[in-house]
Amino acid sequence: MAFRQHKLGAAGVGLMLGFSMMITLFGPSNDFRSGVSTWVGLDKQLSLGRLIGFSYEDPTVSGEGKPITVILDKDPKTGAAIDPPVRAYVYKAGTKFSPGINHNELLGPGVEELSTGIGKIGSASMSSGAVFTVSKGEFNGEEVDYIENTTATRGWTPDAALRTAGDENTRYVGKGKTIYITEGCWWCHTLLPEQTQDWQAFGAPPFLGDFNGEMPTAFGSDRKAPDILHVAARNSSREWMTMHFFNPRLVQPNSIMPRFNYLWGRTDINGNPIDIKAWSKEYDEYLAGNRIYPPEVPEPARDSEVRALIDWVLTSLK
Ligand code: HEC
Repeated sequence: MAFRQHKLGAAGVGLMLGFSMMITLFGPSNDFRSGVSTWVGLDKQLSLGRLIGFSYEDPTVSGEGKPITVILDKDPKTGAAIDPPVRAYVYKAGTKFSPGINHNELLGPGVEELSTGIGKIGSASMSSGAVFTVSKGEFNGEEVDYIENTTATRGWTPDAALRTAGDENTRYVGKGKTIYITEGCWWCHTLLPEQTQDWQAFGAPPFLGDFNGEMPTAFGSDRKAPDILHVAARNSSREWMTMHFFNPRLVQPNSIMPRFNYLWGRTDINGNPIDIKAWSKEYDEYLAGNRIYPPEVPEPARDSEVRALIDWVLTSLK
């Protein structure tokens, strides 16, 4: 073959590679910034905060410094009733903001304009803290959910919002998601129902805009256990979740899921010490048929890790 033909062939391969590189660089098929944030996406990024588990920026992976989700049935400033109650996201002074607050373009067309406009998120200050809600507005004739900085629009302060909600209506969702990551629940569970037959058991797959600003998404890749993206929609019982996390065999006799009883910490809700050894001994007696009922599961303390985990499961996964 003439040398000239080799040269032509090489040029051809070069052209083809160059062209495919151009497609990769300039024709992205999936531009995340073009995804319009949905209510689910906004709810998640506001309640989960900026960093979740994995990140080196969060070396202690302790779940501290997270926003706190509250359910308000009264206006924290005026005391007027709010019916139906609203979800609000309390960022105490110093809590890092979720990504869309500082990088507005991540919110997507419409959501960005309303959040920075009537939502006034630009005036929220990380150093003094802020309270956000997801509100409904209209953009180009379409209904969109956007972020409202209620500290600016309604004078709600983090302290007042927490006080108004009380422990009863407080959910440590952001801390709970961190625990999902650090405990490695994703080794077994997925947060991504896939196409076709999955829908019947686990519910609809998520929308692209459900993930705007969430990191990490923790979809999971290898499923050894049910997908739990919508688990709270099929089981919203706090009591069941409490028993199941303490020892899954209490409610699912053949479950391979590990016990997470150490997430209770040292004391229960009344400050009484939790004695895991004594509990296990009684449980063994139950398994041996010497007791009719298994021992009672301690009620988790208000600041326990398992309370935060259950808050996340029941509040976020619907
Ligand atoms: C070794 C694998 C494994 C790990 C790790 C694991 N699970 Fe599970 N999980 C299972 C299996 C299997 C089931 C189904 C049987 C059952 O209900 O126990 C299950 C069930 C569940 C359910 C009920 C699902 C339903 O469809 O009703 C929830 C909620 C849950 N797990 C949450 C968690 C969380 C949160 C963690 C981390 C703290 C975790 N799991 C860690 C295996 C695992």
